[in-house]
Amino acid sequence: ERPLKVALLGCGVVGSEVARLMTTTGADLAARIGSPVELSGIAVRRPARARNLPVDPELFTTDARELAARPDNDVVIEVIGGIEPARSLILSAMEAGASVVTANKALLAERGAELHAAADKFGVDLYYEAAVAGAIPLLRPLRESIVGDKVERVLGIVNGTTNFILDRMDSTGAGFDEALEEATELGYAEADPTADVEGFDAAAKAAILASLAFHTKVTAADVYREGITRVTASDVASAREMGSVVKLLAICEVDKERESVTARVHPAMIPRSHPLAGVREAYNAVFVESEAAGQLMFYGPGAGGTPTASAVLGDLVAVCRNRVNGGRAPGVSAYADLRVSPMGEA
Ligand code: HSE
Repeated sequence: ERPLKVALLGCGVVGSEVARLMTTTGADLAARIGSPVELSGIAVRRPARARNLPVDPELFTTDARELAARPDNDVVIEVIGGIEPARSLILSAMEAGASVVTANKALLAERGAELHAAADKFGVDLYYEAAVAGAIPLLRPLRESIVGDKVERVLGIVNGTTNFILDRMDSTGAGFDEALEEATELGYAEADPTADVEGFDAAAKAAILASLAFHTKVTAADVYREGITRVTASDVASAREMGSVVKLLAICEVDKERESVTARVHPAMIPRSHPLAGVREAYNAVFVESEAAGQLMFYGPGAGGTPTASAVLGDLVAVCRNRVNGGRAPGVSAYADLRVSPMGEA
């Protein structure tokens, strides 16, 4: 039996965990899929970065374009991040007939419609569970489990770094700068924390969530965004006195007539009795509210190489199963043309 061939583009924090887990859990993956599956190449920027992974060193290549476009790829996993060259690599992989699994939230938030259209055109799958809230199964539940219902609101904490900072400010009385420093020391915040603390990361996630929840097209630029850099120790203390806690929330809503969508990211005060107030450190939690189901809560680790790799592998199994069965995942191409207004209709 010919093994399914998987090309891995990128071998950073998430990519190296994907390569490691694919190698160490290969037999289990094969059993879940019903076919053996093998890594056919790993694209890295610098060969020296081909670190201590339990994979054949011959798999490493610096030619991502060649690897992505190989006609015998069954699946291409893109964990490079950013818009280009990730976008072109994904499109060429699809054109060559491969299904795509990606963790690329910036790309999905900006060009999701284009990528879905390409997946439809070339008859392949496009899955990206790892792009929002790391390990937490959230996008496939929206695409597949709750899709017969009408989602009315998606609301939650989708950025671990800012939740860690706000949690520290709340529990220790620290100011923003001090809490950010601690987050950086512990490896939660990146060297340049702008994307997290200014809310860009959460806004991209909100765009992806709103698009899937309301079957429409929302981009990161459509999302009203306010980060946490202006939240002071005294704001947090006042919230505490009122029995509340400050959290950075992403909120996506559709109006009653289901004609217009709003998406926003901003700090908000939440009563301590609310389940979101109990989300500590770098965890994420998202509520999905729908007409028939009512309120669902999704909770777990929203970042980190290994948890995020778990989501990538789940997608890998799903798209491989579809290859084996000769089918495709449920599409998300039936976009309704809803009005998108960041702060609701005036
Ligand atoms: N920087 C992100 C966070 C990581 O802090 O949640 C995953 O998107």
